[in-house]
Amino acid sequence: MSGDERAAAEPRGRSSAAADGGSSPAARGGGSSAATGGGSSAATGGGSSAATGGGSSAATGGGSSVSVRGGSSADRTLAPFGRRRLRVVGRRELGAYVVTSVLDADGPAPDPGQFVMLAAAERWGGGADERPFLPRAFSVARRHDDGTLDFLLEDVGPGTERLAELHEGDDVWLLGPLGRGFAPPRDGRRPILVGGGVGIAPLAILQDALGPHARVLLGFRDAAHAAGAALLNDARIATDDGSAGHHGFVTELLTAELDASAEVYACGPPAMLEAVRALCAEHDVPAQLARESGMACGFGACFGCVVPTKSGYVRLCVDGPVLDAAELESVA
Ligand SMILES: Cc1cc2nc3c(=O)[nH]c(=O)nc-3n(C[C@H](O)[C@H](O)[C@H](O)COP(=O)(O)OP(=O)(O)OC[C@H]3O[C@@H](n4cnc5c(N)ncnc54)[C@H](O)[C@@H]3O)c2cc1C
Ligand code: FES
Repeated sequence: MSGDERAAAEPRGRSSAAADGGSSPAARGGGSSAATGGGSSAATGGGSSAATGGGSSAATGGGSSVSVRGGSSADRTLAPFGRRRLRVVGRRELGAYVVTSVLDADGPAPDPGQFVMLAAAERWGGGADERPFLPRAFSVARRHDDGTLDFLLEDVGPGTERLAELHEGDDVWLLGPLGRGFAPPRDGRRPILVGGGVGIAPLAILQDALGPHARVLLGFRDAAHAAGAALLNDARIATDDGSAGHHGFVTELLTAELDASAEVYACGPPAMLEAVRALCAEHDVPAQLARESGMACGFGACFGCVVPTKSGYVRLCVDGPVLDAAELESVA
């Protein structure tokens, strides 16, 4: 077995488990970069590696050039040393969401499913009205050919509110890309992308990588939020209140689509992910779930993001955020 094959065959979610004390490349690279925190953009040894390992390149849809990578810690895209001060080059409203675009011309192309830690360069903490201090985690929603990264923001608190109000010409601090993204479909399986709410973000860059044959099913609470579906192509939509698309849950659309040839890629609120996990387990269909938890550092140092798996606790920021559904008893 070649090195690449070994990397591709390595079980997901275990290679850099908490017990390794931060020995994964991402923990090493990201950890030292954020410890300095001062904005150096020098790459660590191999830190900006874009090696694709066992991953497969695929046609792009939205003008970006990305690939879906294999699951080992050795072949994910690693963060360059230090957070980078980057310019906001676009802001547009998409229904209830904001799409913020940041130019990262020299940064490595993220894998679909990877995330970054973002903070506004100005007015980010320091007073009663400016509680943010730690950066916040965001999935990369799309990467354009010039390195521009799109983020889909939902204003749920002070950090997302501050980021969502940034306009062209403002600056952000960005650390990343971080974590482990989606792996290519197994055995030529038919990908079905299932998103809920702001969790649709990483599915856009995944659709760019997989191409138009990937089926896209998205669920939202109402029509205002469903406008976010414009981030992807040819999505089937469900809304809780029936104001757009199918009246009901996105898992009802998934039930109609599931067959033995499918592989499901999902991101959304825990209840949706748990329903997807249970449905796929029932039909013996593999699934990859992009999960969330509170993240203070994003690179394996604080252990604030641990989640249970069948083989023990893992740090979601380095072992995820994408975990194989087969490794989970449930999505708590
Ligand atoms: C890997 C990852 C990718 C993410 N991608 C996106 C994205 O693409 N777009 C987006 O809008 N948001 C995304 N998030 C969530 C985002 O990080 C949080 O909404 C943000 O940190 C909230 O910060 P705040 O200061 O606005 O609100 P806070 O006041 O910090 O939180 C508001 C509410 O949200 C809860 N909350 C905060 N963070 C999380 C979290 N990570 N998981 C579950 N609940 C949380 C809090 O408990 C609180 O109830 C992602 C999170 C992770 C871990
Ligand atoms: S260990 Fe700090 S966010 Fe994961």
